[in-house]
Amino acid sequence: MIKTHFKLILIPILLFSLMACDQQPTADAVQTNYSKKMWSFISEMPKVELHIHLEGTMYPETVSILANRNGFDYFKTVKEVQQSLDSRPPGLFGFLQHHEKQVSVLQTQEDFYTVVYDFLKNCKDNNIVYVEFFFDPQIHTSRGIAFNDVLDGILAGREAGEKDFGVKSELIMSINREKTVESAFKMLKDAEPYKNQILGLGLDNGPEEGNPPAKFEAVYALAKNQGYYLTAHNDVDEKDTVEHIWQSINILHLDRLDHSLNAMEDFDLLREINRRGLCLTGSPVQRTTDPEPQEIERIRFLLQHNICVSLHSDDPGEFASGYLSQLLFNFQQSGKFTKRDMVLLMLNAYEAAWLPINEKKMYIDEFKTWAETQGVNIGEHYFNKHKL
Ligand code: HPA
Ligand code: ZN
Repeated sequence: MIKTHFKLILIPILLFSLMACDQQPTADAVQTNYSKKMWSFISEMPKVELHIHLEGTMYPETVSILANRNGFDYFKTVKEVQQSLDSRPPGLFGFLQHHEKQVSVLQTQEDFYTVVYDFLKNCKDNNIVYVEFFFDPQIHTSRGIAFNDVLDGILAGREAGEKDFGVKSELIMSINREKTVESAFKMLKDAEPYKNQILGLGLDNGPEEGNPPAKFEAVYALAKNQGYYLTAHNDVDEKDTVEHIWQSINILHLDRLDHSLNAMEDFDLLREINRRGLCLTGSPVQRTTDPEPQEIERIRFLLQHNICVSLHSDDPGEFASGYLSQLLFNFQQSGKFTKRDMVLLMLNAYEAAWLPINEKKMYIDEFKTWAETQGVNIGEHYFNKHKL
């Protein structure tokens, strides 16, 4: 009697489990599993970040903490900051509208210290092993904050962050292009005592129209003479951007090009970029209102045409794309890029880094070895011949 009962229960269970074994996993389950593995691959990838603005690393939480700490009557709540981010118009103009307001909450040396320290912690969490970051002195000095306060706060935060999180970082001091040439010269002068601590010079903010790279020819010539590496922003789809990229190369003699993705519209320009071994820092950022990361197809095109293009988070606190792991993952998923594509894009970032040659080679060898453990074998990288 007991035995019969047992059989009655056991047989349906057996049948059910046999059927289950026979069943293929659903397409959704396969996709979820694939995405999980891709997330591990991307988040564990040892990364280089070359295009990130210190002032844009502040999350709404940090902005509102600093706004309260410094007695501002705006951005007192995270919700207010988020609303401002969500309602900004698209493009550089809308970005700067919010950005300049958010930057104003930074007031003291301690504020700069805190932001750099938090930023380096986030770098560690994203497996970023080396970062070159922009900071914009004029945006602060024009509000009455002393150049030395900005620099001393940043350098102290950087030292503490490197010690606590082991992330190596370098500084790129950026000119605000809408300000005068005299003001840019003054910034270079102010930076003289800190020269050994600042690796590069950049150009950002806006508008770009009326403030082309050529405006700063003399400043860049002096900076080159003083030993700075040189880069400049040419934001995507800004007026005359292709002409501005030509100016960046021929007049400013840049070592790297920020954004500059419209170069794909001019094959002579692309050839010149490759001939000079220049790299482009792309930023496929995504706002909460964007259906997918920006610039996917332009970056795909450049990658397919052997241009040294890499991916960066630009202003992770001000975009839903966030820091590098999340940004790379969103980009990969939306554009259906392969693991090999993602490795090549990151290899380009290593190539584009302003590291001493031996150190760069060591980082690249380590990165390639890591990629091999993930089943991606790159061998000779096409760009090595220019850079190493
Ligand atoms: N473009 C111009 N200025 C900026 C940017 C940018 O992407 N981010 C911070 N300042
Ligand atoms: Zn930028």
